[in-house]
Amino acid sequence: MTGKFISFEGPDGSGKSTQVRLLVEYLSAAGYDIVATREPGGTETAEKIRKLLLDPLNRKMTDRTEVLLYAASRAQHVEELIKPALAQGKIVICDRFIDSTIAYQGFGRNLNLDLLDMVNEVATDGLLPDMTVLLDISPEVGLNRIKDLRLCSKDRLEQEAVDFHRRVRQGYLYLAEKYPQRIKIIRAGESKDRVFKEVKVLLDHLLGKHR
Ligand SMILES: Nc1ncnc2c1ncn2[C@@H]1O[C@H](COP(=O)(O)OP(=O)(O)OP(=O)(O)O)[C@@H](O)[C@H]1O
Ligand SMILES: [Mg+2]
Repeated sequence: MTGKFISFEGPDGSGKSTQVRLLVEYLSAAGYDIVATREPGGTETAEKIRKLLLDPLNRKMTDRTEVLLYAASRAQHVEELIKPALAQGKIVICDRFIDSTIAYQGFGRNLNLDLLDMVNEVATDGLLPDMTVLLDISPEVGLNRIKDLRLCSKDRLEQEAVDFHRRVRQGYLYLAEKYPQRIKIIRAGESKDRVFKEVKVLLDHLLGKHR
């Protein structure tokens, strides 16, 4: 028995964590066995790597160090948590996965996309999500949603210029065009409920629940 693997992607403040939470409630209530997780992190070892990555004090971290730390976190996460859960037939819902690497490190930091694909391949051992929900939003709207929350404690990546976040968005849209079967775009500037209605349609379809 294999489960289903769903990832949520999108720029900062696009509503990933919010929609993951709503989806977990919805699917749990419908009786599905759910594992909700996130990247970087998701296991004890990987969460330690997350702390290194997001610590604003690590100003000297080089771009390639960043890529490899994300990959290390992902490798641990896939092996220790995601694959075993899928093997048990569970639905794994992950807040960020491989596409974040391409959008942030590839488009945001201009690192070579082919190399990043290879790094992702090493980290995941070839595991791909069955479906990726891309919450698309302009950086202005997304960053505005989170600015009050974290005015004093922006993490390292949120401190990047708006231009960086524009490139990240373009990266996501490039990926959605490249992998239309896997990546489904939702316009995330709408209310939480409206966005979630669209998420539900995608999930019902994936899980074969036709209404
Ligand atoms: N559709 C929405 N409309 C308005 N506000 C929203 C919407 N979705 C989420 N929010 C609010 O915006 C903020 C950011 O949402 P959330 O944390 O879910 O985004 P995220 O994509 O997980 O962000 P990050 O990339 O920083 O983890 C939260 O305060 C949340 O309540
Ligand atoms: Mg989040």
